[in-house]
Amino acid sequence: MSQPATSQRTAVVIGASSGMGMASAIGLHADGYSLKLADLSLPSLQDVGKRLGAETFAADVTSESAIAALALQCRDGVDALVITAGLSMSMAPFERIMDVNLGGTARVLRHFGPLMRPGGAAVCMASIAGHLIGSIDAGVAGALTDTTTPDLGRRVLNALPVEMRIPGMAYGLSKLGVMKLVQRAAVEWGAFGARVCSISPGLIDTPMGALERKTSPEADIAVPLAPIPRTGTAAEVANVVAFLCSPQASYMTACDVLVDGGWVGAIHSGGTDSPFARALAASRQKS
Ligand SMILES: NC(=O)c1ccc[n+]([C@@H]2O[C@H](COP(=O)([O-])OP(=O)(O)OC[C@H]3O[C@@H](n4cnc5c(N)ncnc54)[C@H](O)[C@@H]3O)[C@@H](O)[C@H]2O)c1
Repeated sequence: MSQPATSQRTAVVIGASSGMGMASAIGLHADGYSLKLADLSLPSLQDVGKRLGAETFAADVTSESAIAALALQCRDGVDALVITAGLSMSMAPFERIMDVNLGGTARVLRHFGPLMRPGGAAVCMASIAGHLIGSIDAGVAGALTDTTTPDLGRRVLNALPVEMRIPGMAYGLSKLGVMKLVQRAAVEWGAFGARVCSISPGLIDTPMGALERKTSPEADIAVPLAPIPRTGTAAEVANVVAFLCSPQASYMTACDVLVDGGWVGAIHSGGTDSPFARALAASRQKS
C-alpha cells in the first residue's frame, strides 16, 4: 500500500458510536487524521461523524460481507486502525460474545491487513479479564486460535466443561484470544512494515462499564482498593490508542498494554487472598 498523494493520514475506528471508540475517534481527529468511522449502532455514529467531519459506515463485525464492504471503502490505504467493537458479559450469550469480541476482531484484521500503509498500526481491545482468566487447557487454546471459522463461539463453548459455559468465561476467553491474535497478526504484518497491539482496559466509565457496575456492584468495593483508586475514563484509554498509532510507538508490536489503574499488578503481587482480589473475585463470580 503506497502513501497517498496528500499527506493526511487515514484512521479507521470500528465501534466508534460509544465509549472508548468514540473517545479514540476524537483523539485521532485532534492528531490530524482523516477519519472513517463504523459501528453497528448508526444514529449515534452519525452524530459523532458530523462532529468530527468523518465518513460513517454501518457495519457488524460478525458479518463477512459488511467488513469486506467496509474494507473496500478504505482501499486507498489506512494508517491507523482501531477496533473497539465489543460486548461485555451482561450484553449477550456466550457464543455472540465470542463471535463479536474475538471473531469480529480477527475478521477486521484479516480484511484490513492488506490495506495498511508501511508505518501504520492497529490497536485492538482486550481486557484485564483476559489477564485474569487463569490457565486454559490445550483444547480451549486450540479453539481460540482458529479464528477464521464461522462457528468460533460454538466451538469454544463445546471445548469447555458445562459449568464453565457462562458469559463471563466467554468474555475473559475472548479477550485472551484477542491478545494471542494480536501476536500472530503482528508477525504477518511485520512483513509489510505495519504494527498490531492491544490494550487491556480496567474498569472504564463508558456505557458498557456502567452496565457492568450495575450488574456486579461488588466491583465498586474493589475500586478504592486498587493502586489508582478510581475508575478510568475513555479519554485515558484513547490517549494510549493515539500513542500506539503514532510513530512514538514505532518499536511496539505484538504486545498488550494494561490501562487498568494497576488492577492486574495488584492481583499478581497481592495474591488471591488480598482484600482487592477477594472483592474482584466476588464481582466476577456473578458473571
Ligand atoms: N468499559 C470497560 O470497563 C471495558 C473494560 C475492558 C475492556 N473493554 C473493552 O473495550 C471495548 C470498548 O468498550 P466500551 O466500554 O467503549 O463499550 P461501549 O459499549 O461503550 O462501545 C462498544 C461499541 O461497540 C459497538 N458494537 C457492539 N457490537 C458490535 C458489532 N457486532 N459490530 C460493530 N460494532 C459493535 C457498539 O454499538 C458500541 O458502539 C470493548 O471491546 C470492551 O470489551 C471495556
